[in-house]
Amino acid sequence: MALPHHIAIVMDGNGRWAGARGEPRTAGHRAGLEPVRMVIRECAALRIDALTLFAFSSENWRRPEAEVATLMSLFMDALDREVAELHANRVRLRIIGNRQRLAVRLQTRIAEAEALTAANDGLRLQVAVSYGGRWDVVEAAKRLAAAAASGALRAGDIDEERFARELQLHALPDHDLFIRTGGDHRVSNFLLWNIAYAELFFTDVLWPDFNAAELQLALEDFAGRERRFG
Ligand code: FPP
Repeated sequence: MALPHHIAIVMDGNGRWAGARGEPRTAGHRAGLEPVRMVIRECAALRIDALTLFAFSSENWRRPEAEVATLMSLFMDALDREVAELHANRVRLRIIGNRQRLAVRLQTRIAEAEALTAANDGLRLQVAVSYGGRWDVVEAAKRLAAAAASGALRAGDIDEERFARELQLHALPDHDLFIRTGGDHRVSNFLLWNIAYAELFFTDVLWPDFNAAELQLALEDFAGRERRFG
């Protein structure tokens, strides 16, 4: 079966999953950790090169303060609890997004986790936190403009390949499979540039219910697609 090289996942539906059980939205986010572990495990076992998870968007800062705080402490706890095991499984972890907006404590923990796992040769795992696809493109454009203004780069040398190197995922292959759970058929400002040719897979399954069998369905669907780049 033809497997994707790089999978992107929008993990949607935590709030609705919790609501259906009469629980607060934050219970859904907590339950969402198990499928996160599952997809990392499965992708590593299948030797998929890279996985990028959308954990918190630039727009998510507008959610109620208490929900944002819960999500942030969930990220902190997940880093504390899971990094040793990721490292043992040779996963290389990177956080993409505007990390200056995160608490300094969290920034420090992220930097430590990235440094610890940087030399690993297994699954490349990107977790997007405070990330937006447009933000990513604008930041890349600013860096190139600054390089051009300083004379370090000629504007005429900027092409798609040079531009892509300034993006958060610079060295990684583009995504070839984009999965979104939770029933909406939207990209929601995730990885705009990198998903230019990705196959899109949408499922109504809410993220906390996304299991290995559901991932398998997405992979089988991908294997059946005729990939075209023009
Ligand atoms: C979207 O569901 C989900 C989020 C905004 C948070 C995703 C976070 C996790 C799955 C937890 C941990 C992740 C890591 C990587 C440690 P929603 O709240 O928009 O749900 P709704 O559409 O039902 O309201």
